[in-house]
Amino acid sequence: GAPVQADVSKLEPGALLRVKYRGQPIWVVRRTDKMLEALPTLEPKLVDPDSEVESQQPPYCANPTRSIKPEYFVAIGICTHLGCSPTYRPEFGADDLGANWKGGWFCPCHGSKFDLAGRVYKGVPAPTNLVIPKHKYVNENTILVG
Ligand code: FES
Repeated sequence: GAPVQADVSKLEPGALLRVKYRGQPIWVVRRTDKMLEALPTLEPKLVDPDSEVESQQPPYCANPTRSIKPEYFVAIGICTHLGCSPTYRPEFGADDLGANWKGGWFCPCHGSKFDLAGRVYKGVPAPTNLVIPKHKYVNENTILVG
């Protein structure tokens, strides 16, 4: 399929934008400083905090924020367990996800949890981090996926 563009010029801090690429949902989240600051604190709770599983991201996203620019996180919105669509849960301390919840995604099918870098929590069915598609910036506000 042809690459698809995501225009992030109107994306509010903390918000999620959806585009489609090859029939798959692609998410772009504009992460706030608070969200970014929480990421390193979660490492002990995660299966692959350092993105060591090479199939889950391009090499340029195998870094602490799993991104090219930390402010923008791009991922394929499909649970790595059995392919359900996880729900965006950016709110910290969500009632149903616990006071220690620092934002991320919750998969309603079997309860997998991912942080705001798409990193899977320990103790859930999903085995790996969310997949990050190949992408690049064509200008300040435009991400080309594919
Ligand atoms: Fe997401 Fe099973 S498909 S937890």
